[in-house]
Amino acid sequence: MRIIVLSSSPNKDGLTAACARAAIEGARREGAQASEIRINDSDIGMCRACGNGWGTCRDEHRCKVEDGFQKVHQDIVGSDALVLVTPVYWGEMSESAKALTDRLRRCEASAGENSRLQGKPIIAVAAAGDSGNGLVSCLASMERLIQHLGAQRFDMISVNRWNRPYKLSTIMESAAGMARGLR
Ligand SMILES: Cc1cc2nc3c(=O)[nH]c(=O)nc-3n(C[C@H](O)[C@H](O)[C@H](O)COP(=O)(O)O)c2cc1C
Repeated sequence: MRIIVLSSSPNKDGLTAACARAAIEGARREGAQASEIRINDSDIGMCRACGNGWGTCRDEHRCKVEDGFQKVHQDIVGSDALVLVTPVYWGEMSESAKALTDRLRRCEASAGENSRLQGKPIIAVAAAGDSGNGLVSCLASMERLIQHLGAQRFDMISVNRWNRPYKLSTIMESAAGMARGLR
């Protein structure tokens, strides 16, 4: 079973990275083949809203903009489950998480019940390292994304600098539980 952890911070040693490591550890503990994709290193540009707002995403369920998105999209489709970890920026997902998920949503939500993420379990993690403000709005946008993808909202986890120690354990246990459920 293959679990992909999508992390979306430029910081390789911050709170987001710690959350991603915890998810990988939990998933591997239950025998999953878990790996991280750092979105910031994946050369994924923003959606160009081709045509009058829709491009090949609507009818062919693929993005015609050739960059790192294609490979990550394939990896996501080929996975059994996902963990999406974002730092909270301005109460929202980070720009790199938005770039990926905006394009992913267009390709998959437009397929309706044939979304290749239909029923796929996803753990959403929002890491707010400053005031902690904006966690709820960030998770709300992640929830909307999961709904649009037709995926399964396995868990929605908020992390801040005060609850970090026990929330890292929570993420590990959540990923382990998700992996167990896939056996
Ligand atoms: C542009 C920007 C906006 C941010 N907005 C928020 C915010 O709304 N709420 C919050 O608690 N932290 C905010 N932060 C802090 C980040 O959530 C915090 O630094 C987080 O830990 C970043 O993850 P990292 O440790 O992986 O870099 C912001 C940081 C940046 C760079």
